[in-house]
Amino acid sequence: MQRHYLFSVNHYLSNNPEWIGNKPLIVSVLNNKGGTGKTTTAVNLAAATALEGKKVLLIDLDPQGNATTGVGFEKATLGSTIYNVLAQTRKIQETILGTKFDNLSLLPSNLDLASAEVELSSTPGREYILREALAPIKQDYDNIIIDCPPNIGLLTLNALVTSDLVLIPVQCEFYPMEGLPTLIKVMDLVKSRLKAQFDFRIVLTMYDARTALSRRVQSQVWNNFGERALKTVIPRSVRMAEAPSKGLPGVIYRPKNPASERYKALTKELFRVPLVAEA
Ligand SMILES: Nc1ncnc2c1ncn2[C@@H]1O[C@H](COP(=O)(O)OP(=O)(O)OP(=O)(O)O)[C@@H](O)[C@H]1O
Ligand SMILES: [Mg+2]
Repeated sequence: MQRHYLFSVNHYLSNNPEWIGNKPLIVSVLNNKGGTGKTTTAVNLAAATALEGKKVLLIDLDPQGNATTGVGFEKATLGSTIYNVLAQTRKIQETILGTKFDNLSLLPSNLDLASAEVELSSTPGREYILREALAPIKQDYDNIIIDCPPNIGLLTLNALVTSDLVLIPVQCEFYPMEGLPTLIKVMDLVKSRLKAQFDFRIVLTMYDARTALSRRVQSQVWNNFGERALKTVIPRSVRMAEAPSKGLPGVIYRPKNPASERYKALTKELFRVPLVAEA
């Protein structure tokens, strides 16, 4: 794999040790490959950030609705969802739900969202609908975390143009790593064509120290992506996989579990590293 320099010219490098840009910092958790740990990462990052006392909005932008169930909601019993917000039939203020966790709110999703890609495809400015919907409420939060679907369609484009930072979970296996250069090229295109401004980070997930493959993926990703590959690596953990069935983020279900500890560390590393975006 080649090394990628996406932001070589006209960039702005913050010297500050913590993010002090416009509140909130909006993070999309994205990988077009399925099952790489996007939802687990989005839910745990949101919960761990809320545990630090920050006000967090978790946006479920996936028709599968896994982030919605992951924080304890029944998809079948939802009133309005993010679908209604994007279709402009409900206000975002009426759709955001408080969760049973302090400081954590949810913009929920269910299968209704599956039709949004088609229905919104001929709407002018269709890539900016989420960004506009968030405008009246985003100042209420310190962080907004968006769980994306496993493809690069209209929903994901809406997430990208809304984001300051894209977090790419990469499962420690060959195919997820192989797909990275293509994903990064697509993100680059979105930046130039849709005038989006975001930096990206890669987080390795489901790491198993006993396998040579996990170790090889780690060293290749770290070598190729430098500081954009986060040093916090999430281990494979049965408890983490079991947490959604209890409607709880892993960091709350089993706070002392190694994967939970790593997600808490990830929150700190992610929000400490200076972002580089095009000026
Ligand atoms: N650290 C981990 N240890 C063990 N299992 C994990 C871990 N992280 C995620 N999983 C499990 O792996 C599966 C895929 O994870 P997850 O749903 O977070 O991925 P995803 O990228 O959101 O998937 P999709 O592309 O379908 O949206 C789930 O069953 C989840 O519980
Ligand atoms: Mg998911």
